[in-house]
Amino acid sequence: MTDATPSSDGQTLTVRDDRTGKEYVLPIVDGTIRASDLGKIRVSDDEPGIASYDPGFTNTASTRSAVTYIDGEKGILEYRGYPIEQLAEKSTFLEVAYLLIHGDLPTKDQYDSWVHDITFHTFVHENIKSLMQGFRYDAHPMGMLLSAVGGLSTFYPEARNIHDADTRHLQIVRMIAKMPTLGAWSFRHAQGKPYVYPDNDLSYAENFLAMLFKMSEAKYEADPRLVKALEVLFILHADHEQNCSTNAVRSVGSSQVDPYSAVSAGIGALYGPLHGGANEAVLKMLRRIGDVSNVPAFIEGVKAGNERLMGFGHRVYKNYDPRATIIKKATDDVFEVTGVNPLLKIAVELEKIALEDEYFVKRKLYPNVDFYSGLIYEALQFPPEMFTVLFAIPRTAGWLAQWLELVNDPEQKIARPKQIYTGGRGLTFPSREERWA
Ligand code: ACO
Repeated sequence: MTDATPSSDGQTLTVRDDRTGKEYVLPIVDGTIRASDLGKIRVSDDEPGIASYDPGFTNTASTRSAVTYIDGEKGILEYRGYPIEQLAEKSTFLEVAYLLIHGDLPTKDQYDSWVHDITFHTFVHENIKSLMQGFRYDAHPMGMLLSAVGGLSTFYPEARNIHDADTRHLQIVRMIAKMPTLGAWSFRHAQGKPYVYPDNDLSYAENFLAMLFKMSEAKYEADPRLVKALEVLFILHADHEQNCSTNAVRSVGSSQVDPYSAVSAGIGALYGPLHGGANEAVLKMLRRIGDVSNVPAFIEGVKAGNERLMGFGHRVYKNYDPRATIIKKATDDVFEVTGVNPLLKIAVELEKIALEDEYFVKRKLYPNVDFYSGLIYEALQFPPEMFTVLFAIPRTAGWLAQWLELVNDPEQKIARPKQIYTGGRGLTFPSREERWA
């Protein structure tokens, strides 16, 4: 859990205000200074103190968190201290979700009861089904998911009691359990197919595949290699510390609203093309390149600044995105079942050339999580609109772990940034007669 009493270990930053000649000694804790300490630097008591200006929070820590660790230079991603590579190889998505939420790996009994609870909360109220059926035939599945998750708050009004640990836990179980149901139904809706109810005999990933693809067969049996690949993809997408959607969940959650409303804000953030949509752009790019022989010319175009190599580069990772390495391996398992996506050859050639080319090496541009994931999703017969839904389902575990941490963190306050006001002041309201004369 969050350590609320950090110590500076004597490290300080001395700031001299050239306006007044005064010096201020600010404690440095974990490589940061408190923005509120800057507020003490002021010219006079009746003027506001110094604030920092940071659109997009590019250099501002909003929380102390013990959930996910990233070292972008070294390409390290850990959940609760466990490297993503080990989790993807040895764990299941529900075990990882338990780890994220509770902070520790479960005992056998804890794991069994967690899986049981999640499995038996997969059904949703029939009126949620009616709500989803009310959408237009061509509704975007992310819009449907966002609305349905927000709508759940009205079915569980007790969820607003966020200060009660048992109530919080129940909503967490419900939400992780119901996301595959809602995600699958948003997919079936666009196809005009009947919604498939959950099958509580199946595992989390199997059940999701069944609700997506089951037709008239009595029991849907998914290929175990596809189930494993989906588990791995879910594990890789379960959390990624303070990204745009997690920040949205925390920011909305800081108003002490119920977790369904906070998570639906996260889904809204993930819906945006700058966050969840790059893998679709990778597919479009690969299709446009069309053939391996066109790769060198395409790379030259990228280097000339004509366009970007989609699926390459990352704000945080200046090394191979560790998730991309794992996804690349998963493509082999999926393609063994589905047949090779012909675009894979182009992707592999692009990666080979780019990793050797000085342009990409100098700028530390490596494949990110989106470079190969779209190829797998396409092989699994998902249309591009579903890609972000496939991201939102596992990320719900991370959002809720972060939300829980927020609720339990005595340092957190309602999120309310400052602004630098740039508009007019003290104007006199002219009457319409004067303005429109
Ligand atoms: N192809 C070619 N050049 C690139 C790429 C790319 N994919 N990404 C960055 N560069 C170049 C830039 O042109 C710039 O070059 P310059 O210094 O000569 O001007 C330099 O590398 C730094 O780029 P920035 O845009 O400043 O890096 P930033 O950290 O802001 O951008 C981003 C990160 C948005 C991910 C970027 O690398 C990009 O657009 N990549 C392609 C889109 C993509 O794959 N997004 C998915 C990210 S993963 C996720 O969100 C889940």
